[in-house]
Amino acid sequence: MNLVILGAQWGDEGKGKIVDLLSAEYEVVVRYQGGSNAGHTVMVNGQKFILHLLPTGILHTHTVGVIAQGMVVDLELLVEEIKQIESKGISVRDRLLISDRAHLVLPYHKTLDALLEKRGKIGTTLRGIGPAYMLKYARKGARVCDLWDKDRFYSIIKDNLEFVEELCKKVYCEDFQMKVDEVVDRALESFEEIKHCITDTSSYLLNTKKSILFEGAQGTLLDVDIGTYPYVTSSNSSALGLSAGTGLPPKFFSNAKFIGVSKAYATRVGEGPFPTELKDEVGQLLREKGKEYGATTGRPRRCGWLDLVALKHAVDLNGLDGIVLTKLDVLDGFGEIKVCTAYRVEDKVFKNFPASLSLLEKAQPVYECFEGWKESTYGITNYKDIPEKAMNYIQFIERFLGAPIVMLSTSPERDKYIWLSEIIHGRKVASSDIC
Ligand code: GDP
Ligand code: IMO
Ligand code: MG
Repeated sequence: MNLVILGAQWGDEGKGKIVDLLSAEYEVVVRYQGGSNAGHTVMVNGQKFILHLLPTGILHTHTVGVIAQGMVVDLELLVEEIKQIESKGISVRDRLLISDRAHLVLPYHKTLDALLEKRGKIGTTLRGIGPAYMLKYARKGARVCDLWDKDRFYSIIKDNLEFVEELCKKVYCEDFQMKVDEVVDRALESFEEIKHCITDTSSYLLNTKKSILFEGAQGTLLDVDIGTYPYVTSSNSSALGLSAGTGLPPKFFSNAKFIGVSKAYATRVGEGPFPTELKDEVGQLLREKGKEYGATTGRPRRCGWLDLVALKHAVDLNGLDGIVLTKLDVLDGFGEIKVCTAYRVEDKVFKNFPASLSLLEKAQPVYECFEGWKESTYGITNYKDIPEKAMNYIQFIERFLGAPIVMLSTSPERDKYIWLSEIIHGRKVASSDIC
């Protein structure tokens, strides 16, 4: 049975750790949207890996890793990342497949990203992601397959550079100069390193008999269609992106399990609405205890209480079969823990996640309060060690969402987790049975 792992909040939920540990049981691991804006952290015996473009499951040497067509790929960074992992003794290039239909991120996309940020800040990762998707949908993008035909690639880059130059001059009153030859040569240099990995990945995925794990990047609330638009990323980072991103028909996923990853609280990096954000010392404490600094940009993450209105939106629109709750340990020792169950805007109460930015920006959280627990849950692996008050918190979340919490993660390390309900592999233990 295939498995889809998705971020259920604003990214950085701990997907990397969860994908890594579950990949042990899958043969193919697939990234299908986004690009190097992702930063997925895995800790194995104190050794830290941060993956940006490669599927996290590639760290298991039995897997085949796939970079599918919906991704935007910065080949230079990809080669760097591959070499870094290979330098740690883990082979990559002999089991990596890169879609010939994926679009490329090139240096001018990053220049544009920085320019766009000057006018209406989103707080992007400046990795060129928005502009790469922008040119893709403007039907001007350069794809991986174009690298096989140097004349075609040259003419696409020439056209792109003229377009960007004009845009910079006319809209931003900025000078822009980049040499076609330089962009082309740099791209071709990277291409030489990975060209044997390039293939039609949708055809591979459609025909393989192997078990597949699909790894979402970013999170549902950053999805360009169902997130906090325009403060989102430029791809469908919810389940909506699966079919187009992999090139597989929607019915391919009809038997798959969909698991969302959520922290036991909430964070977001960059601008945009965040109704439960804590700008006080409690938020500061969450940031310090949770080490909430971006894995890609190092920026401090904004922190707040868990937002169940937003999480329910993710459960419903992704069709989640269950939630993996990470970083429960960060809440250890808090006297009181709050969880948002509705939004108040003036005299109205909203139970559903609104589309309107005007509403989201004014939304005041309605909280349910819980007594915190004193015991440490850091690194626990036995459900009997879950404090009763923590279990109350978990069960409240489950009831509210109408979806089971299938696993708890209790530290960054690969082996520190507790199964509560194994809906993925068939065994069924509900957390309510455990208490
Ligand atoms: P991703 O983008 O969803 O893969 O998440 P990131 O790697 O950007 O950020 C998650 C951070 O939380 C990383 O530093 C992880 O090592 C860390 N982490 C993951 N699970 C846990 C957990 O259960 N407890 C603690 N304390 N840290 C965790
Ligand atoms: P992972 O996969 C958290 C955020 C950026 C910004 C917005 C748009 O590690 O969870 P972009 O560069 O994509 O155009 O930026 O999206 N963002 C992320 N936030 N985790 C991520 O990835 C993110 N990828 C993008 O901070 O607010
Ligand atoms: Mg991350």
